Amino acid sequence: MGRDRIVIGNWKMYKTSREAADYIEHLAKKIEGCSTRVYLAVPYTSIASASNTAKQSGILIGAQNMNDARDGAFTGEIAAMMLKEAGADFVILGHSERRRIFNESDEFIHRKVIRALSDDLQTVLCVGETGAEREEGKTEEVLLRQIESALQDVPDKAHEKVILAYEPVWAIGTGKTATAQAAQEAHAYCRKCLEQIFGKRKSGHISILYGGSVNPDKVKEIVKQKDIDGVLVGGASLDPDTLAAIIHQCEGKR
Ligand code: 13P
Repeated sequence: MGRDRIVIGNWKMYKTSREAADYIEHLAKKIEGCSTRVYLAVPYTSIASASNTAKQSGILIGAQNMNDARDGAFTGEIAAMMLKEAGADFVILGHSERRRIFNESDEFIHRKVIRALSDDLQTVLCVGETGAEREEGKTEEVLLRQIESALQDVPDKAHEKVILAYEPVWAIGTGKTATAQAAQEAHAYCRKCLEQIFGKRKSGHISILYGGSVNPDKVKEIVKQKDIDGVLVGGASLDPDTLAAIIHQCEGKR
């Protein structure tokens, strides 16, 4: 289907802008010549300097969240156009830490997705079940609800700017990576959900990434799977050498 390999590092609330610049210079050297597309979701305060440093390298810089409003009296929030102006090319939305710790609803995430896409930011939509939901056999139900609610009414052609990330909550930051087979099954189901929304042709161009305790030892088996187009990496992305090792493991023909 010709989908690119993508590796996204999600730094969460780590690294100052100075650390970001050093990191990016180091990473860029380590991955010179790689064909995998590399994205870094950095803290807001690092977006401007990180995107400047990353310019020649092809690494894309983005944010980890945003508000759905164009602008307004929302103390402490940030708008899509501000992220764009600072140099962001993409934004992560619906991360389980936002859903769980900050009580973000499916409806709020949907409004953010529409805003991000309308303001021309690539959108990395995160979905995934909790451990309890998996044990209760509700994985598919949760994925369908999260995907359908977030991606309904997406403007025409905007699907081209969507990346989906399957991140089972029980695998995030726990060291419990999903088996390649379990991840593939969930990804195949996510692809079915995308097909229902966008049709086979359009959805075939949407990349689906796996996230949850990805490390250089596990990644190769994961990205070998048919419906897994790359990975979204948290903890292991904080060290540029480790992220470079993950990127190298992802290289090769799809
Ligand atoms: P870990 O790789 O630390 O499990 O985090 C995954 C994640 O939340 C990426 O968005």
